[in-house]
Amino acid sequence: MTDRYLALVNSGPTAVLAKKLGLPRPAVLRRHRPGAPLVPGPVLVVADPASVADADALASTMLDWDLDVRRHGGKEDRFGAVVVVLTGATSPADLGGPALEITPVLRGLARGGRIVMVSRPASDAADATQAAARTGAIGMLRSLAKELRGGATANGLVVSDGVGMAVPSVLGGLRFLLSGRSAYVDGQPIAVMSDGGAVPADWERPLEGKVAVVTGAARGIGAAIARTLARDGARVVAVDVPAAGEALAAVANEVHGTALQLDVTAADAADRILAHVARFGRLDIMVHNAGILRDKLLANMTPDRWDSVLGVNVLAPLRITERLLAADDGLGATPRIIGVASTSGVAGNRGQTNYGASKAGVMGMVAAWAPALAQRGGTINAVAPGFIETDMTAKIPPVNRQVARRLSSLQQGGQPIDVAELIAFLASPQAGGINGQTVRVCGQNVVGA
Ligand code: NAI
Repeated sequence: MTDRYLALVNSGPTAVLAKKLGLPRPAVLRRHRPGAPLVPGPVLVVADPASVADADALASTMLDWDLDVRRHGGKEDRFGAVVVVLTGATSPADLGGPALEITPVLRGLARGGRIVMVSRPASDAADATQAAARTGAIGMLRSLAKELRGGATANGLVVSDGVGMAVPSVLGGLRFLLSGRSAYVDGQPIAVMSDGGAVPADWERPLEGKVAVVTGAARGIGAAIARTLARDGARVVAVDVPAAGEALAAVANEVHGTALQLDVTAADAADRILAHVARFGRLDIMVHNAGILRDKLLANMTPDRWDSVLGVNVLAPLRITERLLAADDGLGATPRIIGVASTSGVAGNRGQTNYGASKAGVMGMVAAWAPALAQRGGTINAVAPGFIETDMTAKIPPVNRQVARRLSSLQQGGQPIDVAELIAFLASPQAGGINGQTVRVCGQNVVGA
């Protein structure tokens, strides 16, 4: 599904007219292109005085990535990104210095620019004043993300106390958030809880040698996930219902993977997945993407609508994951399991009691299984997409669809690739310190923000 309004306000006379009328002008987002620079300009690094050592460490890492790193900036500079380091903040009074230091450069931030804030979690704070500083940093981040224009985003890495700045998930998270891969992730703090994971030999192909299963891969977001995991080096097993067999085969062929026709609600779904994967080795990455909508107000709900949504969206991922965890030799040494939730699961949505229950259930599932996965050297996380342009959202009535698109800070819907990029990151070795979380990919949609 294409957003024609987005195209109109970005080209020719209609762009001029939209500007004159003061209409919302969503930007064409900066997405990953092979060979494109990681950041569209120099990177400014600022910190409060107690965070300078961490800022130095991050600056030196980014110099190693050949970025043009600066420690001071002015009105005349056009930065591609700003990294704000607040790890040492002990009081809300510490936030003003770095916040006001970046004031002059914000208007000159490049199109598709990035703000990345690095801070510590309030749950690890020594006292109430430090907790206020840490939650205050997140409040500042969320508001700043709403002020940016030109497709720029602001996100955070919230690094647990005792975890250093050189661990794989800080490096990988920083790269992800600076890059075009995070185009539709906005206003999100991502927690890095441990030094788990590994820096990949090749940042462009971090999934080299991994075996990945993606359910619901015949179209939409699932097809984009299959393509993106394959692009990053994985061997992909694409799963979908037999009725989608032709489209599924096309996706599997395109990514040089294999197709497995399977209804994920089948009692033997996990056994069939394991049997199929066995010919390639062990299962490294499991993406539970298959999902359905059967919207009705609860006042009009029917058992079949309720049961089918819960069955596909949450009971199947639960049953399959349980079986994978029980299999002695099914999973690889550093398994990554990723569920697909929804902003409807975060905030609720009228007409979606069944869908909201299923998607919030996915969030509960990943949080509960995180310790079990950590014990085996793996992780389990979820992504919560907002409005994404797919066949599913093409069914929404036109006026509601237009409104839903403009309700985010980026003033547009996301593309399937945006969800796929976040999943590919969570599936990567560098994300090994991120576990049990639900990360939104919603352009900072106002729903539940
Ligand atoms: P889609 O309807 O375009 O594709 C879903 C795929 O899952 C289809 O190929 C379908 O055949 C497959 N599928 C359905 N039931 C299955 C079953 N029992 N076994 C195997 N495969 C099955 O949906 P879309 O938009 O690509 O969504 C993918 C996921 O993202 C879903 O979990 C959805 O709930 C979630 N999501 C989508 C959003 C959006 O705006 N499109 C927003 C939030 C979440």
